[in-house]
Amino acid sequence: MLTTRQPVFRKFWHAVMPLSMLQGGQPQPFTLLGENIVLFLDADGRPAALKDRCCHRTARLSKGRCVNGALECGYHGWTYDAAGRVIRIPQYEADRPIPADYRTPAYRCVAKHGYAWVALEEPIAEIPEIPEFGAPGWRTIFQFYERWATSPLRALENSFDNSHFSFVHRATFGVADQPRPSRYELVERRHDDGPIGFHAETVIAAANPAAYHRVSGTSEPITQRLMRNAYYLPFSRRLDIEYPSGVRHVIVNAFTPIDDGSIQLCQWLFRNDGEADCPAQLLIDFDHVITREDKDILESTDPDALVDTRRRGVEFSMDSDRPGMLIRKQLMELLARHGEAEVHG
Ligand code: FES
Ligand SMILES: [Fe+2]
Repeated sequence: MLTTRQPVFRKFWHAVMPLSMLQGGQPQPFTLLGENIVLFLDADGRPAALKDRCCHRTARLSKGRCVNGALECGYHGWTYDAAGRVIRIPQYEADRPIPADYRTPAYRCVAKHGYAWVALEEPIAEIPEIPEFGAPGWRTIFQFYERWATSPLRALENSFDNSHFSFVHRATFGVADQPRPSRYELVERRHDDGPIGFHAETVIAAANPAAYHRVSGTSEPITQRLMRNAYYLPFSRRLDIEYPSGVRHVIVNAFTPIDDGSIQLCQWLFRNDGEADCPAQLLIDFDHVITREDKDILESTDPDALVDTRRRGVEFSMDSDRPGMLIRKQLMELLARHGEAEVHG
């Protein structure tokens, strides 16, 4: 599937950028589903997203600067409000009106969970809730915000794949001599008008060397992880890992589509222990090593992942691919409901 060629994904909220990146007062560029956009904070500190193109001579607005909550183009200084209207042309006399059609497209943009989220068209679903965000007893750690050369579907299927630990992660938590995957219990979630994702629960064995004892809260050489994993159509997931120690390690991912070959990986981590139990930096370092292992292998796969399984012989599957196949089934339902077929290379 070529993600940018399926218009329905324009009708969802996508996590685009941590708000902290906008607080320096500089506009920031991003490419969402192939559209070049620019983000900035308005006078009330709310994020705004415009097409990254000045309507004067097409300069990238992200090369400009923020002035009193408006965005000033770096070429001739035309200045835009959060709705995309030109509100100042410095070359005009002060009382000269600016034509109403002097504007650039504006996109829906909201702040949630510490991120700016953008929908290119009227959204058909809510932003997934994260009950742990800012909740008492939980730490929020903004773990990763980085570009990967893969597609959302590749990142998603990997997130629900119990068969790769003994191979991709054999140097970290994978148990090399236990390649047979544990089975996921899958419970589909639907609204009246179609699927919205699923819950997937399983228990896995994880290697627990001394360096991980503070992460897992236990010193067993091999520990159990209760994995409560959830998929949110189209490109988000939540993995709640519970160790026998009671420590919970909750990862939330938004795999934001940049273009057909790259995503922005947004990863939040929530922990129910304290900084003295396991410092945030140690948790970032721990997951950094593991995500490098996934990134390296995912970037070797074809981002144009098979979605329509009627296309025989393109990719072959095994039993443990069930979650990935359910993601495909739900995506196919979504596409069909919006009159689309899978577009592929
Ligand atoms: S190109 Fe932006 S003000 Fe001229
Ligand atoms: Fe992995």
